[in-house]
Amino acid sequence: MENNILQLIYLLASITFIVGLKFLGNPATARKGNLIAAFGMGIAIFGTIFLYKNPENGAGLHNLIFIFAALAIGTVLGFIAAKKVQMTAMPEMVSLFNGMGGACAMLISIIEFQHLSHSLSEPMAAAMALAPGFSSALTGKVLIILAGMVIGSVSFSGSMVAWGKLSGKVKDKSLGQQQFINIGLLLVIFAFAYLVIGGNGENTALFFYLVLALSLLYGILFVLPIGGADMPVVISLLNSFTGVAAAFGGFLYDNKVMLVGGILVGSAGTLLTIVMCKAMNRSLLNVLIGNFGGGAKGEAATSSSFEGSTKEVTASDAAILMRYAKKVIIVPGYGLAVAQAQHVVHDLELLLEAEGVEVKYAIHPVAGRMPGHMNVLLAESNVSYDKLLEMEEINPEFATTDVVLVVGANDVVNPAAKTDPNSPIYGMPILDVENAANVIVNKRSMKAGYAGIENELFFKPKTSMLFGDAKKALTELVNEIKALG
Ligand code: TAP
Repeated sequence: MENNILQLIYLLASITFIVGLKFLGNPATARKGNLIAAFGMGIAIFGTIFLYKNPENGAGLHNLIFIFAALAIGTVLGFIAAKKVQMTAMPEMVSLFNGMGGACAMLISIIEFQHLSHSLSEPMAAAMALAPGFSSALTGKVLIILAGMVIGSVSFSGSMVAWGKLSGKVKDKSLGQQQFINIGLLLVIFAFAYLVIGGNGENTALFFYLVLALSLLYGILFVLPIGGADMPVVISLLNSFTGVAAAFGGFLYDNKVMLVGGILVGSAGTLLTIVMCKAMNRSLLNVLIGNFGGGAKGEAATSSSFEGSTKEVTASDAAILMRYAKKVIIVPGYGLAVAQAQHVVHDLELLLEAEGVEVKYAIHPVAGRMPGHMNVLLAESNVSYDKLLEMEEINPEFATTDVVLVVGANDVVNPAAKTDPNSPIYGMPILDVENAANVIVNKRSMKAGYAGIENELFFKPKTSMLFGDAKKALTELVNEIKALG
């Protein structure tokens, strides 16, 4: 009876995960989606704690004090971290949390391997050589344990390195011929994993722990050379690894909700990785081997190879241009997030609208440094969701726009993506801002963005540069518009 209720709870929880994920697809419903899925996770956890019975001996869970202590510590730490995190540090936190998921999958495998070893009367490999039926079931179980451990440990150590890199504690480092070292290491891991299953029964535990140690090392070497700014793609990939590792846990315990949750995380992470790569027009291999994206490169490009010069505009001239325009499109980018200018940009929007100007936001899929960065940032300052238009939707509108205000964006409006086959961003879809009558670009200097390349848009006759920190420049702009009355 209790087991039936538990299975029903698992089914309900699985449904909440799917509904929650669906709701996460839209900023207007995302918060609700998160709560629905969290509720599902809550009932799955408490259902397991109170209703689970071991099918062999009918015993329930024990060590409840430890379980509740761990739950309390995790909840408090997670709550504080999520409350305190800055929007720009969000990828770091996702990485850290993801690493914890990988570590869980790794620990589950270690514990289950020990259980299995202790429950067999003869050494594991000898048991596997017994009657074929028994042997294949056991081999299957060990395989699942190994797969969960390898993927979980790679995800754990890789996420920790990613977290260190994003918080500036770890620097990019390549050992040279890194791909070959990584491939070699993977082969050695597979060889030891084979020895755990198909060896002659000696040293099975040693081989198992060697697989563990080398998988942890692989995670570190895999992430270490990747350009710091490519981390969101890698984090999304590691996230999908954690999902797959959790799904192996579901197989191991014959636990449906763990299986469904793991598969959803695995597939959502994989899809997100593909979407990000597509939006940057890069293959996953290209991201992993690293072609552009080193922070240092981005800082370097300060002098120009383009003909002509840039034109500067003062806040008061920009204010006049925008105040008397019919239609203004704002293009937010990474600099808007850095400057925390989301509130003042919303003030600007309201002010212009009060003057009868139509205002919209153009959202490029990889503007900023993580998926949905701009949506989340602007939602924070209560910008209405229907004003945020995706690239495909807004691109045809630029031709009928009087002023485009680009705030802290660079690569996502760089025409080289269309015109220069040698550019690293060639082929990346961009926002067609140059089709508008006037373009005002706000940034602090002529420095390059993430891809480390110059932007010809800044040198076009219809473009004017409004130099300065986004928050400061937009505040001045707002004050100037107010002064116009
Ligand atoms: P970027 O091309 O990185 O340009 C941002 C610009 O903001 C910089 O040129 C910088 O110029 C300016 N800036 C920095 N701080 C500022 C401040 N306080 N005030 C005003 N401006 C400031 O950003 P983007 O156009 O948003 O493009 C995103 C890039 O990141 C793309 O290349 C994309 O492929 C990559 N990327 C995105 C993601 C996701 S999922 N979003 C993931 C990985 C990589 P100054 O230094 O002169 O101010």
